[in-house]
Amino acid sequence: MKFIQTLPYVALATAFVLPDVETLKQLALTETPDEVHALWDDIPDTADAIFGNLKDKVSSVKQDFHTAIELALDEEIDDAFDLADHPGHGHHGHHGHDHTSNLTIYQLISKSPYTTNFTKLVDEYDDIVELLNSTKANYTLFVPVDSAFAHLPDKKPSKEFVEAVVRYHIGLDVYSGLRILHTQTIPTALNEELLGGEPQRLRTSVGLFGIKLNFYASLIAKDFKAKNGVIHPINHILVPPPFVGRELSLFPNTFSTLLLAYEKTDFVKFIHGVKTNGTTVFAPSNHAFAKLGPRANAFLFNTEKGLGYLKALLKYQIVANATLYSDAYYDNYGKKDLLETEDVQHYDLTTLLHDLPIRVDIKRWGGWVRFWVNGFNRVVVRDAVARNGVIHVVEKVPIPPHKHHGAADDEDGEIDVEGLIERLADYVEDADRPQDWSDL
Ligand SMILES: *[C@@H]1O[C@H](CO)[C@@H](O)[C@H](O)[C@H]1NC(C)=O
Ligand SMILES: *[C@@H]1O[C@H](CO)[C@@H](O)[C@H](O)[C@H]1NC(C)=O
Ligand SMILES: *[C@@H]1O[C@H](CO)[C@@H](O)[C@H](O)[C@H]1NC(C)=O
Ligand SMILES: *[C@@H]1O[C@H](CO)[C@@H](O)[C@H](O)[C@H]1NC(C)=O
Ligand SMILES: *[C@@H]1O[C@H](CO)[C@@H](O)[C@H](O)[C@H]1NC(C)=O
Ligand SMILES: *[C@@H]1O[C@H](CO)[C@@H](O)[C@H](O)[C@H]1NC(C)=O
Repeated sequence: MKFIQTLPYVALATAFVLPDVETLKQLALTETPDEVHALWDDIPDTADAIFGNLKDKVSSVKQDFHTAIELALDEEIDDAFDLADHPGHGHHGHHGHDHTSNLTIYQLISKSPYTTNFTKLVDEYDDIVELLNSTKANYTLFVPVDSAFAHLPDKKPSKEFVEAVVRYHIGLDVYSGLRILHTQTIPTALNEELLGGEPQRLRTSVGLFGIKLNFYASLIAKDFKAKNGVIHPINHILVPPPFVGRELSLFPNTFSTLLLAYEKTDFVKFIHGVKTNGTTVFAPSNHAFAKLGPRANAFLFNTEKGLGYLKALLKYQIVANATLYSDAYYDNYGKKDLLETEDVQHYDLTTLLHDLPIRVDIKRWGGWVRFWVNGFNRVVVRDAVARNGVIHVVEKVPIPPHKHHGAADDEDGEIDVEGLIERLADYVEDADRPQDWSDL
């Protein structure tokens, strides 16, 4: 925790991947960093629990896939929606919601006694009421039930912030429970300037306990079909994610080596000068750094010369002006959805290290994703959405490929100091900037 507190990231925005109560508490405290620090002391456990679980989940998505289809339904909530729809009718069976209501999403949540708090927030924004009540387009509303609003901090966030929060619960288009099983990220009605004005996205995942959004919010029921879309009640408020840097700093047990690398190379100073419209960050975990081996680590972290190389490695992990999610791609020319196909989809993204490309291969099939960087380097946690981009956690530190043979990373990950120097020497600080990668 110690060096985390010295990072300049502390001043940045909000939190992520936390129970939203903690998140909102932090938001209320952004002007008093000391208190923020104090709050952070509670975070590592939560973070570890989430990242630990997640690793298991990523590898077992396939097995979980079928079990997840039958989600536990909360009967009370089920009834509440059915009652809102047909006053006086009462029980109908709880197996799916094949019946499509004649009411709009807005009308359904205003009538449900379990969603009064969220409806009250919606009511403060005429344009959002109109959006959820209109039949000009279809939406998916992830509506936090009232219990999600218990224990919120007293200090009310700004109207602007609350609007962003409310919009972040609205998925563009209809995502039924079944469709979510084939989806990795969902675009929302929250347009994010830092993503080039494109929709901020929600990360979805499927596990033994059903469908989760952004690692922490669970669907507690699903598929209430409204006239203009679908409603899924959830157990936590969805808070728009923070900046990439802040997000990494929330997981010291996973990223302390990376954060130390940022600190030692004064990386923040460099990155603040970089203009970028969205970003894709391939973040190596502590484990990934360890795999480089003790000698390479000693060189990178403990020698003056090595720090230049370390900085080069850090630049190679960051892609500017392109935000690549498992199932969507934003660049300066707009957005496109990636196909679900058994074929591997291939991207060469331009990194901050002398515009060197980093190769990404994605294979999606039936809700299952495989994702590699430079050949063998597997993405172990995909699609950690951030305000200004997306983070993918990689199992090895990405190193630019050998100039003369192929684009693949070494299969093991360990590298000797000479190898590291050979592969990076041309790109360390002040080296002449190559005009064209193919000329090298
Ligand atoms: C929906 O509501 C309208 C007006 O209230 C009614 O005319 C129509 O029959 C209803 N449709 C269904 C399918 O219930
Ligand atoms: C949620 O709604 C309940 C009852 O409608 C109210 O007592 C409570 O203050 C609300 N909570 C928030 C955080 O608005
Ligand atoms: C929602 O739309 C219905 C028509 O579908 C309309 O009757 C109702 O007044 C609208 N409600 C609000 C709050 O705009
Ligand atoms: C919304 O969904 C309904 C039912 O699936 C469909 O009939 C309708 O055309 C859709 N509306 C729009 C604007 O796409
Ligand atoms: C940022 O990206 C959006 C599209 O995603 C584009 O419209 C906009 O022009 C881009 N801004 C810059 C400065 O390139
Ligand atoms: C990102 O794109 C913008 C607009 O095209 C450009 O000004 C900026 O230099 C680009 N950033 C990087 C790091 O290439």
